[in-house]
Amino acid sequence: MSFDDLHKATARALTSAVDEICEEFKIDGDDLKTLTEYFIESMEQGLKPLEDGESEETSKGLPMIPSFVTGKPNGTEKGTLLAADLGGTNFRVCSVNLKGDHTFSMEQTKSRIPDELLEDDSVTSSELFGYLARRTVLFMKKFHPEFFKEPGAESQKPLKMGFTFSYPIDQKSLASGSLIRWTKGFKIKDTIGKDVVKLYQEELNSHGLGMINVVALTNDTVGTFLSHCYSSGTADSLSSGEISEPVIGCIFGTGTNGCYMEKIENITKLPQEAREGLLNEGKTHMVINTEWGSFDNELKYLPTSKYDVDIDQKLSSNPGFHLFEKRVSGMFLGELLRNMLVDLHERGLMLNQYRTYNQLPHRLRTPFELSSEVLSHIEIDDSTGLRETELSLLQSLRLPTTPTERIEIQKMVRAISRRSAYLAAVPIAAILIKTNALNKRYHGEVEIGCDGSVVEYYPGFRSMVRHALSLSPIGSDGERKVHLRIAKDGSGAGAALCALVA
Ligand code: BGC
Repeated sequence: MSFDDLHKATARALTSAVDEICEEFKIDGDDLKTLTEYFIESMEQGLKPLEDGESEETSKGLPMIPSFVTGKPNGTEKGTLLAADLGGTNFRVCSVNLKGDHTFSMEQTKSRIPDELLEDDSVTSSELFGYLARRTVLFMKKFHPEFFKEPGAESQKPLKMGFTFSYPIDQKSLASGSLIRWTKGFKIKDTIGKDVVKLYQEELNSHGLGMINVVALTNDTVGTFLSHCYSSGTADSLSSGEISEPVIGCIFGTGTNGCYMEKIENITKLPQEAREGLLNEGKTHMVINTEWGSFDNELKYLPTSKYDVDIDQKLSSNPGFHLFEKRVSGMFLGELLRNMLVDLHERGLMLNQYRTYNQLPHRLRTPFELSSEVLSHIEIDDSTGLRETELSLLQSLRLPTTPTERIEIQKMVRAISRRSAYLAAVPIAAILIKTNALNKRYHGEVEIGCDGSVVEYYPGFRSMVRHALSLSPIGSDGERKVHLRIAKDGSGAGAALCALVA
């Protein structure tokens, strides 16, 4: 075979291998129906108490964590409160001024969580929470210096703070909850089972910030939902005829998750006394943090390729858990592509200028090095010879590629993002069906408050979610009533709203 023939044969083999991968990543209307039905079943199961012999680890239901938030803000709430927010990538401290007219202003400092806190499993809770306290000191010195200058300032009225902690917790009250397990890369073992409000408060106290009182613990989805409720229903939107109801708060970013309001009588996992107490106080609903990243951990219906298995088992910090998140969220999109590239190289189908795995560029061999941002450039590249893709891969991974390889890489990127967006539609459709939200009000228009880098920046993500919604059991009639609204940085304002009612 001539060199040219050999080249063509390899290109053909690559195309057929990539087509096979893309085929495996397809999700159709039937899959969406099955997944949505199973999602509803898993929500219902998760609202019930654990059965005998069942644990959080083995339960087939979703975690469905009661948030102890029983009302929606209406936009008239007023006050200045502090908020701290530990997310997947950043830690933010803010002072939020709720103006009582659906608007708020915010002063904030944001820092990237240092890699050693994320990567090193010998790190202790006190190192992490000590870091959070030190960042809080810096924020207070910058925006509230009066507390450090005025003698006796420490004895002033305590400052209320809401703490957004976006990991699965076993929430016992509005102001306490213990960590069930880390997600999004954290590995600190000794935090598991501990009350994270206590850990943070203790470090604040020992860093001279005893005047801060952490009065509410919330999740980023709950924060997004509350801040979206607070901001919506403005005079402007009402006069333009908008009468949509905020129904879901969700995050599609480094991780993914969502929350909605459930009837208290359905949350049978709450002790009967607590449920009756709330009902007697006239409360009817409570926000439930579904922790939908954990959907179908037993892999009954989730599509699963060998790349999903490898990422979960060999590369993730929580194997066997959050398997839905590992197919949907930003942290894993680039990792899926990286695994595909390495596999196709090992099969001799691409990047053949490198003879062995060890010769591949170091960055291509490094787990989680390829970010979803790079995929977002490749997704929409229409330049001649996919030149943008070439530059993106050179810049991010130091990886040279041929035009033929780039065509195949773009196909894989689109398959990964499409599967992510189609799966993202499942919990949305399921919650809309379970709560009957599309039939409740005149026209039944609903708003979904969304935050996170993927839903906000990934090109086409929202329209792919919409397309999947129209194929899902809510159909195109349902899809037309859904408004996906970006509720940017909602978790800070949401934490402040929680602290206000605490
Ligand atoms: C966490 C959730 C969080 C979501 C989005 C997931 O990994 O388990 O608690 O809401 O990420 O940040």
